[in-house]
Amino acid sequence: MRYTFSIIKADIGGYVGHSDVHPALCSCAEESLAQAKEKGLIIDYHRADCGDDIALIMTHTHGTDSEEIHRFAWETFEKATEVAKEYGQYGAGQDLLTDAFSGNLRGMGPGFAEMEIEERASEPIICFLADKTEPGSWNYPLYKMFADPFNTIGLVIDPSMHDGFRFEVHDLVEEKKIIFSCPEEMYDLLVFIGAPSRFVIKHVFKKDSDEPVAVTSTQRLFLMAGRYVGKDDPVMAVRCQSGLPAVGEVLEPFSFPYTVAGWMRGSHHGPFMPVSTANDTPTRFDGPPRVVALGFQLKDGRLIGPRDMFADPSYDLARRIALEQADYIRRHGPFEPHRLPLEEMEYTTMPKVVEKLKDRFVPLEGVERDF
Ligand code: F6R
Ligand code: MG
Ligand code: MG
Repeated sequence: MRYTFSIIKADIGGYVGHSDVHPALCSCAEESLAQAKEKGLIIDYHRADCGDDIALIMTHTHGTDSEEIHRFAWETFEKATEVAKEYGQYGAGQDLLTDAFSGNLRGMGPGFAEMEIEERASEPIICFLADKTEPGSWNYPLYKMFADPFNTIGLVIDPSMHDGFRFEVHDLVEEKKIIFSCPEEMYDLLVFIGAPSRFVIKHVFKKDSDEPVAVTSTQRLFLMAGRYVGKDDPVMAVRCQSGLPAVGEVLEPFSFPYTVAGWMRGSHHGPFMPVSTANDTPTRFDGPPRVVALGFQLKDGRLIGPRDMFADPSYDLARRIALEQADYIRRHGPFEPHRLPLEEMEYTTMPKVVEKLKDRFVPLEGVERDF
């Protein structure tokens, strides 16, 4: 049987500042999901959150980009925004960039990662939810899971994985996409995904099928809004086992708290810290950026779970390294490479400051130019 697995998320108000979601907003979203299930719009759901973002994790049969599902998510976020206003939450309705829903969430603010799949006899799926970072942050772990034999031994010893995988990469600036087949095109793939602010992996496919085995949200708010509206706090869903990376291979990349862009004011590099759901509240310098992993078994479209995968103490060392890295890089203050490079700062609030000062720049005198 075919099911659609959708994660739709938005920041519609923070508690306190940009650090968490107030329980009243969570209850509102939960109530809305329960009604949708009751009406038969969705088969099952789990309401989740990471930092100041609410995520609606849903299964249904309407396919990806469904108007009905997107409208439902939009209206749920609208309702929760009213609660956010009532409770004086910070940045209420922040990610709802337009006044009215118009057929699809594309370009409207909320992020979404959806895939239509044929449910296997047993279907383990892990949902990753991040706060204080951007969609390209999934490039590194997806590469490790599906292309790096030092991470995923299944690529070497499982005959059903030995052929490798295909990666669909989006150029978010030029709005183009390309598919790379690995391992043959590993080096070509890395040319692009090593620049995660622009090139992001949208889907991963097996070699012999066009059904996704992993999907990410790729929305970049500044490209939609034309102004800085925070980082995009992406989500991702990854299917596991039986010819795909095992659960442990899917989680393994996060044992290294690699550096991502985001953190304070969406303008800093910092470690990506794997945390349990109890610790998904970024507070130090509005961070550091963090990720939770919710594991589900799908059964006839029902979501059995979640298990809080990063609650495992085997991620304690990654968390400690993350904190040490955070301490080290914080001491750079406003200097690069803690602060993002100039071209990335263009998508923050900094250009307004630069604009104010531009007339005070005068030419360097006496500079010889021989061209
Ligand atoms: C980053 C983020 C926060 C805010 C910061 C300033 O994605 O959400 O770090 O950028 O707290 O927020 P404002 O400008 O709303 O005061
Ligand atoms: Mg916020
Ligand atoms: Mg957020």
